[in-house]
Amino acid sequence: MEKLPSKIAISNILLGFYVLSGLDFLRQVESLGINYGQVGNNLPPPDEVLNLLQSLKLTKARIYDTNPQVLTSFANSSIELIVTVDNQMLSTLMDPQQALQWVGTHIRPYFPATRITGIAVGNEIFTGDDTTLMAYLVPAMVSIHAALVRLGLDQFIQVSTPSSLGVLEESYPPSGGSFRSEINEIMPQFLQFLETTKAPFWINAYPYFAYKDDPNRVSLDYVLFNRNSGMIDPYTKLHYDNMLYAQVDAVIFAMARMGYEGIQVMVSETGWPSKGDPNETGATSENAAIYNRNLLRRQMENEGTPLRPNNRLEIYVFALFNEDMKPGPTSERNYGLLQPDGTMAYNVGLSPMSASISLTSDATKVKQREYESLLRSIFLYLLAFQVFMRRQR
Ligand SMILES: *[C@@H]1O[C@H](CO)[C@@H](O)[C@H](O)[C@H]1NC(C)=O
Ligand SMILES: *[C@@H]1O[C@H](CO)[C@@H](O)[C@H](O)[C@H]1NC(C)=O
Repeated sequence: MEKLPSKIAISNILLGFYVLSGLDFLRQVESLGINYGQVGNNLPPPDEVLNLLQSLKLTKARIYDTNPQVLTSFANSSIELIVTVDNQMLSTLMDPQQALQWVGTHIRPYFPATRITGIAVGNEIFTGDDTTLMAYLVPAMVSIHAALVRLGLDQFIQVSTPSSLGVLEESYPPSGGSFRSEINEIMPQFLQFLETTKAPFWINAYPYFAYKDDPNRVSLDYVLFNRNSGMIDPYTKLHYDNMLYAQVDAVIFAMARMGYEGIQVMVSETGWPSKGDPNETGATSENAAIYNRNLLRRQMENEGTPLRPNNRLEIYVFALFNEDMKPGPTSERNYGLLQPDGTMAYNVGLSPMSASISLTSDATKVKQREYESLLRSIFLYLLAFQVFMRRQR
């Protein structure tokens, strides 16, 4: 108890520090990740993208290739980067020698100046129709990991693969989570690899799809992380107030059903489109803003899911930009937080600092900024208070 006054003093100093540091507040907590897709013909060059990420205080990004321009532009920055191996490369990279050569060419020359933290081997292979690709996946991951070990990079760079939520046969309730029977045979090898190398299971999870498919039965507030009564898992009695966390816990239960209980889950993609075709119910900029803002708020609280409340759930939002060359329904081209010119697609509550993307041009936007700044102060206060409480324990 006698140390209490000094703790109060420390937290007051911290409080002052946080308030003074103002816009830098995101630095105090772990950053939300962002998927930097480049399927557009009007996107800014990588060095400008780096400035945008920095002005948004985003420090984790994923790209869908190993674009040397991006890897070079992001060198000596604070951005941690996940790169992707194209599906087409898996058959080649099963060969350990080829994998070693690939890592030596596409990763090693850029590391550590470019803070590469992960390699996504293929994308959504388990739910594609190509079963040969599925058979190549784990051997390719093993070879790439072995190459990283050989080059002394495995302590810094994780190897995993993003799966769509379609890998699950059951996702409701979360405790009923199970993998589709078609992938039952390959899953143990894959999970064994993740467990052995301590890499997380990456899931692409879009509560938007569930809402769009059944807007009359799925609660919009539940999928948007708004205040709602949520659901209680009848077996675990855990309470879920949003669908994303329920989906993540369903993945954890599916893994546990196969005997793997210690593997972390990361949300490699989630997001909400700001525009869609008439039959894409819910794809509006209002909903996109609410979803991503609520997600950001929950991330700032460093939350875990109900099943693993003390493990911060790492999330990569899809996507940084609206990408005009994406095929498919209108929503596909409208997941971006930003327009290609770097302006916000809608207000998500991130605060760009650079003049080119500032929101101060008219009075209502100034109002909005004042509101944001008020919110920020409240965050800062809560953050400092949390530090204070933690120090008390
Ligand atoms: C990064 O910084 C190092 C050391 O200052 C320098 O040698 C290197 O050229 C820089 N890399 C790039 C791509 O700017
Ligand atoms: C939705 O509407 C678009 C055109 O607006 C159409 O091309 C598409 O087939 C429709 N999708 C469904 C599932 O009905």
